Amino acid sequence: MNRIALSGIKPTGIPHLGNYLGMIRPALDLAKDYRAFYFIADAHALNQLRDPAELDRLIFEVAATLLALGLDPEKVTFFRQSDIAEIFELAIILAAATPKGLLNRAHAYKAAVDANLAAGRDGDAGINMGLFTYPILMAADILLFGSHAVPVGEDQRQHIEIAQDIAQAFNRAYGEVLTVPRAVIGETIADIPGTDGRKMSKSYGNIIPIFAPPEELLKHITGMVTDSRPPERPKDPEQDNLFRLYRFFAASAETETMREKYLHGGIGYGEVKKMLFDVLERTFGEARGRYEKYIGDRPFLEGVLRYGAVKARAVGAPMLANVRKAVGIRSY
Ligand code: TRP
Repeated sequence: MNRIALSGIKPTGIPHLGNYLGMIRPALDLAKDYRAFYFIADAHALNQLRDPAELDRLIFEVAATLLALGLDPEKVTFFRQSDIAEIFELAIILAAATPKGLLNRAHAYKAAVDANLAAGRDGDAGINMGLFTYPILMAADILLFGSHAVPVGEDQRQHIEIAQDIAQAFNRAYGEVLTVPRAVIGETIADIPGTDGRKMSKSYGNIIPIFAPPEELLKHITGMVTDSRPPERPKDPEQDNLFRLYRFFAASAETETMREKYLHGGIGYGEVKKMLFDVLERTFGEARGRYEKYIGDRPFLEGVLRYGAVKARAVGAPMLANVRKAVGIRSY
C-alpha cells in the first residue's frame, strides 16, 4: 500500500467514454491497491487552450467528473497541477538532465513538425516550447511524487518512457534520487470507437461525453454509423461500432448473447442502439446525478482541490529538497 500510483488528466475537453476506459477507470481501480495521486493537468492544457474562461470551466468539469465516478479525496490525493509550484521547479531542473534529441523524437512534436512540412511550412511553424518540453513537465509530475505506477492510455506510453529515461539520466549523474516509474496501460484507445467508428477523440468530433444528459446521449447513439444490413441478416460483431462499444459496458454474459445475435441474425441496429443506451444509463446514470450536484458547487470543488494540494505538497516538497541538494543548489 506504500507504492504510489500517479496520473494526470488534461482539461482540454469534456471527459468522454474514451477517457473513461483508457485512463479514468484503470486509475480508479489502481487506487484500491496503491497510494494514489491524481491531478488535473492544467499547466499541460496551456499549450493548447488560449481561452482562460474555457480552461477554468474545464478544470471544474474534470474535477466533478472524477468525484462523481467515485474518486474519494480522503483516500486519493486529488489536486490541480498548477497549485504545486514544486512541479514547475522540478521541471526546470530536469530540463538540464534531458537530452534534446529525446524530445526531438517525441511523437506529438514529430507529428506537428511532419504536418508542417507536408503543408510546405517551416517545420516549427506554430509549435510552442510548451509542446516541445511537454514530456519534461510530465516527467516532473511523475518524479516529484516518487511514482511507481502511472495508469495512462496507450497514447501516453512514450511519455512514460521519456520520464524513465530522464529519471535514469538524472540518477546516473547524481545517484539514486528519483524512482523510475512504469506505465500501466488501460484499454487501447484505438479500440474504443467513436460515433463514426474511428477511435474516440475530441479532434475527430466523434465523442460521447460520460455525463451527457439522457436526451443528448440518445442523440449521440442514434447518430452512430453502422452499415445498412437489415435485422435478419447475420453481422460481424467485430466490425460494428455499436457492438465494439457495447462490450466495454455490458456484463460478459450480455456481450456473449449479443455476439450470438449478430452472428446468427435476428437483431437490428435500432435495437442494439437501445441496448447500448440502456447499458450506458445503467453504468453512469447515478453518477450523473452526483456530477450535476458537484458541477453546481464550485466552492466545494475548490475546497477539495486545495485540500489535495496541501497533501501533495507535503510529499513533493521533501522530494524537491532532495533533488536540489543532489544537484548542488541550496534549499530554502
Ligand atoms: N499527458 C497526459 C495526457 O494527455 C496527461 C498528463 C500530464 C499525465 N501529466 C501526467 C498523465 C503525468 C500521467 C502522468 O493524457
